Amino acid sequence: MRISHHFIDDLISRVDIIDIIDSYIPLRKTGKNFAACCPFHQEKTPSFTVNPDKQFYYCFGCQAHGNALTFTMEYAHLDYVEAIHELASRVGVQVVYEQGSAPTSLEQHDELYQLMAEVAHYYQQQLRRTDIAKNYLKNRGLSGEIAKEFGLGYAPEGWNNLSKHLGSSVKIQESLIKVGLLIENDKKQSYDRFRHRIMFPIYDQRGRVIAFGGRVLDDSKPKYLNSPETALFHKSKTLYGWHRIKKYHPDKIIIVEGYLDVIALAQYGIHNVVATLGTAATQEHLAVLFRQVAEVIFCFDGDAAGNKAAERILKNVALPLLKNGRLINFVFLPQNNDPDTLIRQIGREKFDTYLNAPTPLSKFLFDSLLEQVNLNHLDGKARLIELATPLLEQLPPQSSHATLFWNVLANLTGVPQEKLMKKNFPNPKVHTGKSIFSTPPINTLIQKIIKNLLYYPKLSQFVVNPQELANVNLPDINLLVELLELYKGNPQLTLARIYEYWRNTQYSHIIEELNGQKALLTESYVEEHVEKEFVEEIKCLQDYYKTQRIESLHRKAQFGSLSSQEVQELNTLLLSKS
Ligand code: UTP
Ligand code: MN
Repeated sequence: MRISHHFIDDLISRVDIIDIIDSYIPLRKTGKNFAACCPFHQEKTPSFTVNPDKQFYYCFGCQAHGNALTFTMEYAHLDYVEAIHELASRVGVQVVYEQGSAPTSLEQHDELYQLMAEVAHYYQQQLRRTDIAKNYLKNRGLSGEIAKEFGLGYAPEGWNNLSKHLGSSVKIQESLIKVGLLIENDKKQSYDRFRHRIMFPIYDQRGRVIAFGGRVLDDSKPKYLNSPETALFHKSKTLYGWHRIKKYHPDKIIIVEGYLDVIALAQYGIHNVVATLGTAATQEHLAVLFRQVAEVIFCFDGDAAGNKAAERILKNVALPLLKNGRLINFVFLPQNNDPDTLIRQIGREKFDTYLNAPTPLSKFLFDSLLEQVNLNHLDGKARLIELATPLLEQLPPQSSHATLFWNVLANLTGVPQEKLMKKNFPNPKVHTGKSIFSTPPINTLIQKIIKNLLYYPKLSQFVVNPQELANVNLPDINLLVELLELYKGNPQLTLARIYEYWRNTQYSHIIEELNGQKALLTESYVEEHVEKEFVEEIKCLQDYYKTQRIESLHRKAQFGSLSSQEVQELNTLLLSKS
């Protein structure tokens, strides 16, 4: 089921990022580049830049960046495979799969989506003709308008409504089982999963129905039934209400617990709300949200369960995601109130006062830790360090959150920050011998070389034999060598293709980091100067290797065990260095 790498590479070189992006947001030419107001954050003056040579975009405001494929994924909310199909259809080519792997059942999926749409429509029809269901929603305060907007429906009583309505051919039966609408018993008889329930269609990012939630109309149990995981529906990635809120350009998103909370808040004009689907929020959920906004607010009932849920988010989910610029906040509502009941009771304005005074994650974290210890005693301070350390260690290292949190812990305990963070920063390896570089500069040197190379592929011509560098014992050297060889094979390679080439590999984070640097799209270098610098830098790397190698041969010689070949190598090395 793998799409061929070759195909993806070819696709990236065929599409023009300018066309692709311009079809979504109008681009304006500004010198060599194109510009627009950034679609990924709110702004009034354009800082979103697209470079046609590199086939790459970069936003100076929010640092969003990538190639045509990245843009299609982020802007149209498609996953990787979907975005590839979208781009392929733009240039009129058929997606090619790796040999030996069957093409994805995308067409089959198309049929399943179609089926889900029909079922949703059927349930909506049934709602219109069933007074008891309509009255239930009316009694809960839902307007007909909002019910329509969320596509609410009703699954009637009876065991075989879907087959009656859609047909009972084997194919349809099988599809209905596949999407979780029919349940098959041991005797191979199938029956409707949802009976006599209010139906909440669950949509994917593109607005296609992928699952349902169904609520009873009284107090019977279970209150909600949900579709099982299917080929279309993945609970841990799906958020209820997500597909419709993009058009509101939210700058933060509120996560609530229930379908009806999302709907009630929307009815009161609060549209930046999503719900998880009967599961607690996962890192995948948050990652989806943080692609779109910088702030996420969890809204919980103010009871013990709400507090517990918040603690779980804190301990198991949120901390690693707190990169610079991101915020996670908590709102605790009064006891026994969910957003739905509360907003209907107190109205929009008063409800906003809760939303506007959230508890920052940092406060929640330290408050809940401090509740457990007594700082008047040394033991209490020690305990605090013990409790806090595993949590703070989850924060992205070097992020401003990490710095600030450790600082708070230092202030609370009187233990200097460096001591607390010891584990975070293992002692730097002590370099023996007199190599010309201490570790950090040479590491940044490699990064600098790679960066310049990504920016000026032509520089690759200055390295005659990249493999000669392969023996340099430094992190990322393999990336550098591979990059040099790629460029030597094809100096026309765009940054967009390089970026795609390394997507989801061990190197992607490096490319990601380097791409994220403004320098890539600003013409801040004088080219001639860059060339000189590059040649020097490569020479530094070679010298570094020679020094290392000479030292190691010397050490070996002390034990009298150099082969004649090694003696010769040592001589050549010594000569070349002088
Ligand atoms: P709640 O019990 O808070 O329900 O569950 P609710 O959304 O407020 O619904 P009402 O107001 O009682 O009608 C929150 C969410 O947990 C999931 C559903 O997704 C629900 O929206 N849930 C709850 C289930 O999946 N199954 C259940 O039996 C109960
Ligand atoms: Mn409720």
